[in-house]
Amino acid sequence: MSEIFTKVAELKEKILSDLKEVKDELSLKSFQETHMSKKSALSQLMSEIRNLVGEEKTKFGQAMNDARSAVQTAFQAKQKEIQEKAIAMKLEREKIDITLPSYNYKLGGINPFYLIQDEIIDTFVSIGYEVKEGPDVETDYYNFERMNIPADHPAREMQDSLYINPTTLLRTHTSPEQAHAMDEKQGKPLMMICPGKTYRRDDDDATHSHQFGQVEGLVVGKGITMANLKATLELFVRRMFGEKREVRFRGSYFPFTEPSVEVDISCMNCGGKGCSMCKGTGFIEILGAGMVHPNVLKMSGYDPSVYSGFAFGVGIERVAMLRYGIDDIRKFYQGDVRFIEQFIRK
Ligand code: PHE
Repeated sequence: MSEIFTKVAELKEKILSDLKEVKDELSLKSFQETHMSKKSALSQLMSEIRNLVGEEKTKFGQAMNDARSAVQTAFQAKQKEIQEKAIAMKLEREKIDITLPSYNYKLGGINPFYLIQDEIIDTFVSIGYEVKEGPDVETDYYNFERMNIPADHPAREMQDSLYINPTTLLRTHTSPEQAHAMDEKQGKPLMMICPGKTYRRDDDDATHSHQFGQVEGLVVGKGITMANLKATLELFVRRMFGEKREVRFRGSYFPFTEPSVEVDISCMNCGGKGCSMCKGTGFIEILGAGMVHPNVLKMSGYDPSVYSGFAFGVGIERVAMLRYGIDDIRKFYQGDVRFIEQFIRK
């Protein structure tokens, strides 16, 4: 009966030597199918236990268990070895040479017009203003009538524009958005800004262009005064230009505000001494503002004996010019890369 034990030993040796030949996952899988399934030679040999009795039966069982667990252990070791080899190969394949020089990506610059527009928006959003957008093509009614500039008003002459038809034009300012915002709010208090492009007849020179950007601002509520306007604009100027910049409020005239002011800040270029940029005055105008005219409030459905408000319109390019020391407004529109390249964020 000892030949059956020899058979077990031989089979075990055969299986283990087969396993030595296994080199990859594929052959490991086929090894598993041949030698470790129910149909394997080892499993079939187990059926011989039926022909044995007593001590031999026990011994045979033990020998079989030993063989099985030897195969199992060797198989697991092989599996681990193959897996580790696969990982090592993958790592080798995916190795990055960090000493290689990097690619030289060329970043584009952002036109300073948009850098400043975003900054102005951020400043007002941070103190609770809503941001609105309005159409560049506006009706005469909103652009002029609702801004207290009737058809025969001389102020129209200063703000001639391109007309699409007799009642529709490219807006001359962002102020019509005041009327749109009040229409929308239907008599409720509001705080909004509206950034956008404006168009008007102008002598194009270093500080004027027939097309430029504005940010309109409007606050309407009970008890709003000129002090609120002043504090708001001072906060704005200090945030944009720093604590040291001088701010000057000058009495002015706009048909849609009463009283009206123009706000100048000391010239960045010459520090207030007078130069070509500030036309010798030491100051540059950056915005118009004032208390919303009672007629405008009335036309927009607000009772001027209950509600009051202030409005302002900031020239975006003017602010950008002062901030970055740009000496000619036309540079914003010429698309010269040498200009834009100076605004690449490093
Ligand atoms: N709309 C005026 C302009 O374009 C600016 C302004 C806005 C003035 C709001 C007062 C209040 O010149």
